[in-house]
This record gives sequence, C-alpha cells and structure tokens, in this order.
Amino acid sequence: MADGDSSNMADVFRPYEKLVEITILGKTFLVPERNSLLRAFQFISPETIPYGRFCWNQECQYCRVNCQLSDEDQSRPILSCKFIVSEGMDISQLAPELIGCLRTKLGPAQPEPVAIISEEKTRAS
Ligand code: FES
Repeated sequence: MADGDSSNMADVFRPYEKLVEITILGKTFLVPERNSLLRAFQFISPETIPYGRFCWNQECQYCRVNCQLSDEDQSRPILSCKFIVSEGMDISQLAPELIGCLRTKLGPAQPEPVAIISEEKTRAS
C-alpha cells in the first residue's frame, strides 16, 4: 500500500508524535522528537546523511556539533549520533562531514567576514 520510499524512511526513526523546532546555523527546521540529532539531520536531508561517513556509534566524531539547548546559557560540543533532539536546540557549528551533507539544505555559505577585516584595518590605522 505505502510506496517504498516513505515506508523505508519511516523505519529508521524512533516513534514520534510531533516535530520539534531546531535551528542550524541560523536556519529553522522541524524534526521528529525522541530521535538523535543525527537522525534529525537525516530527516532534513534523507538523500545525503545515509551516505556520509558516519559510524552512528560515538566513535568517528564526524557528527560533532556545537549546540545550545533552550535551557542553557552557552553552547557546548556534542555528538549528534548520541544526543536526543529537543525543542529549541540551537546548533552554531557543524563538523565538516555534516556541513557537506547539509550544504544544500542550509543554503549558501555565510559571507566572508568582510566587516571584521575592515574593522581590524580601522583599528590598525
Ligand atoms: S556518527 Fe560517529 S561519532 Fe557520531
């Protein structure tokens, strides 16, 4: 009855009742609660995350992110294959493997820090 793609996709996620909102590099996404953050990334980008070099087992470190939870006042490094996603997570840095996998979903890279360079020039003169 269900087509192959949607049933396969549903099988990899732990059961969930709702989606929670997280922010990745300033962009907002809805992802399934009760799943690891790496699964949430897979939900966002099912066509790339399964092909990334991820061990899914807390060994490779390719899933490392810097993340601030809604009830914390500063970000900290976590492994996204281990950490369960929660409402309001704010991810400020991604490991290169994740950046590669999520590139198309995150849009164009942030502009080079031109303002900072010109600010330094101002200070130096
Ligand atoms: S996927 Fe390898 S440490 Fe998380």
